[in-house]
Amino acid sequence: MPVTFNEQKKIFKLDTPNTSYICGIFDKEGFLGHIYYGDRIEEEDVAYLARTGEPPYTPEVNNRDRLAFYDSFPFEYPAHGLGDYRDDCIAVRTSGGNSALKLTYVSHKIIKGKKPLKGLPATFGSEDECTTLEITLTDDILELDVYLSYSVFEDVDAVLRSARIVNKSREDVSLTRVMSACLDMDNENYDLITLHGSWARERHINRRPLNRGTQSVSSIRGESGHQEHPFMAIMEHNADQTGGRVWGINFVYSGNFLAGCYVNQFDTVRAYIGINPEDFCWRLRPGDEFTAPEAVLVYSGEGLGGMSRSFHDLYRNHLIRSPYKDRKRPILINNWEATYFDFDTDKLLAIADEAAKVGIEMLVMDDGWFGYRNSDNSSLGDWYVNENKLKGGLKYLVDEVNKRGLKFGIWFEPEMISPDSELYRAHPDWAIRITGREPGQAREQYVLDLSRPEVVDYTFDQISTVLHSANIEYVKWDMNRPLADIGSAYLPAEQMGELYHRYTLAVYELQERLVTEFPDLLLENCSGGGARFDPGMLYYSPQIWCSDDTDAIERLSIQEGTSLVYPLSAMGAHVSDCPNHALGRVTPFRTRGYVALAGTFGYELDVTRIPQEDRDMIPSQIEMYHRYNDLVRMGDYYRIASYSQNHEYDCYMVVAKDKSEALVTFIQVLNRANCHSRRIRLQGLDPKRRYRLEYVDDAADRSKGEGTDRTYLGETLMKAGILVQNPWGDYQGKLISVKAE
Ligand code: GLA
Repeated sequence: MPVTFNEQKKIFKLDTPNTSYICGIFDKEGFLGHIYYGDRIEEEDVAYLARTGEPPYTPEVNNRDRLAFYDSFPFEYPAHGLGDYRDDCIAVRTSGGNSALKLTYVSHKIIKGKKPLKGLPATFGSEDECTTLEITLTDDILELDVYLSYSVFEDVDAVLRSARIVNKSREDVSLTRVMSACLDMDNENYDLITLHGSWARERHINRRPLNRGTQSVSSIRGESGHQEHPFMAIMEHNADQTGGRVWGINFVYSGNFLAGCYVNQFDTVRAYIGINPEDFCWRLRPGDEFTAPEAVLVYSGEGLGGMSRSFHDLYRNHLIRSPYKDRKRPILINNWEATYFDFDTDKLLAIADEAAKVGIEMLVMDDGWFGYRNSDNSSLGDWYVNENKLKGGLKYLVDEVNKRGLKFGIWFEPEMISPDSELYRAHPDWAIRITGREPGQAREQYVLDLSRPEVVDYTFDQISTVLHSANIEYVKWDMNRPLADIGSAYLPAEQMGELYHRYTLAVYELQERLVTEFPDLLLENCSGGGARFDPGMLYYSPQIWCSDDTDAIERLSIQEGTSLVYPLSAMGAHVSDCPNHALGRVTPFRTRGYVALAGTFGYELDVTRIPQEDRDMIPSQIEMYHRYNDLVRMGDYYRIASYSQNHEYDCYMVVAKDKSEALVTFIQVLNRANCHSRRIRLQGLDPKRRYRLEYVDDAADRSKGEGTDRTYLGETLMKAGILVQNPWGDYQGKLISVKAE
């Protein structure tokens, strides 16, 4: 049984293939305490680790030091206000104005499978694949029940947590803080990793020692954001890619979040993740319930690499639902960097003509096809085709593109409204704004108030009408500004603190309706590049645009940070033109291809205008995509070297689950004169099998054939390694295919 309860000792034990999670009920009052989360152990009786045998003991033994107990006991779901002075999981505002609560054990049940979370994205699995423990806690005075849910899968090392709060009393109560999960443990000289960035520089890895006090990352932008990310990893100071203990925590949510670690006076650490309490206040009427989004906990005893592979497997097998999840995605060409707003039917068809010739499979028409939008200053909300640009209409264009053998995709930014739009002129109260205040613009646009049901219906009808009007097989769903001026003309004053979360729920509702009505649609989420690259979005779309920065070198860092948590199959990555539009760098077309092959792969350029030699390279890039994409999409990811750490070169590989083949990507960012070849130690192979190496696509490579005249034991490749000759010049790459005999 993956979940057990020892009646006598009152201990719950959850097991995954390589990990154990243990918690228990303490004291006659029934406090739910965290005991252990780490490498799998067989014995559940490790309650001594909760230190209730030491002063201050539990209230049952030593009631005079109750507060000291509250402030040191490792709680599974710490409550606010009675003496646990660490960052907590739940706080309320009662009708009497109080904020405290005390949660104790009532009952539990263990069920096969996993219930969906109402209105929220969440991991899923059949009764054979997972088991769920649901523990009920209550506050007797407030008559507030908290249902803590823990699910474990048979095939992945992850624990999925969420919380549901039910108001059983006859009075209203408001929730002012609801975290989804918490992990209390000893701080054994740990480091903390978080992901940081900006527009065009998303998810760069930041590692530092975990210090006393609170360290946190958060968003209050109404989206997960470019700047910080709903993820953190706590790890042993010497943990690296291949070894050491690591706890990764991620949040299946796309709105405001808070992820924090508090190290207290006794050197214990409390890690927690949930909806950001800032500007959050959720009213529960008698009988109402609130479901907090899902938190994902992954423990790896095999360093960061083990953690990444567990996240990848979990998301590929139990979160992404799209029919495309296990399929190669059509190779698309997107016209954004090719034309920006300056396009018409003829221009798009000219691109389609050339794209078809080189083997591209889909044309995506980006921003600028609707209303009277010729720059980013108008028409969001007016989702009807601009026939001045698209002469003959959308269906004509799509049919013509289809005739050329290409699929067709389209861009929307459904959550927005331009001040200069017919929609805004008709419904100024549909924008998020504070009554009496002029709302601030960003990219000359406002955000729609999606807490208003009629706005959700209107938006869905608009998208659905367009999609029904032609054979459209892909949608890029964009979101190009954060929320501000938090106010709704629809919500009553006492519910204004619900706007952010209601907005996120409405985005989910819209996307759910979209994938239900168009089940074969390939949906790609996007937010000014990668500002909403999170597990919540992956529930609806199998891929997310990583960044508006398509420069191959900047992408090394962005894709490294992204792949720390998310599978390569989800990373939107395209080859674009040079000098790069985000930073002016010139890199070889070949290298741009290698880097994009680590993601969904596609093109973001005007194929009618790029240099002939680049165009000539596209068919071979496409051939490589077809040859290696199954491996890249479904294999195990291993990081060998990080350019963002060593400032010279990057190297990663993907290994087939059966270890029969692998693909190594080596990118030399800066060359050095007069130096040795690099020693690269491969990972993830079968030590006992023999492998042959092949340098793929190395027409321009002076080291062609190097080391390919023999076979190697997997053990040799992993322990002793191979020598990779330095390519000539900067920004050069190599792809090495590794195949078992
Ligand atoms: C965002 C996206 C881009 C493009 C533009 C269009 O920035 O990330 O890819 O679609 O919007 O306005």
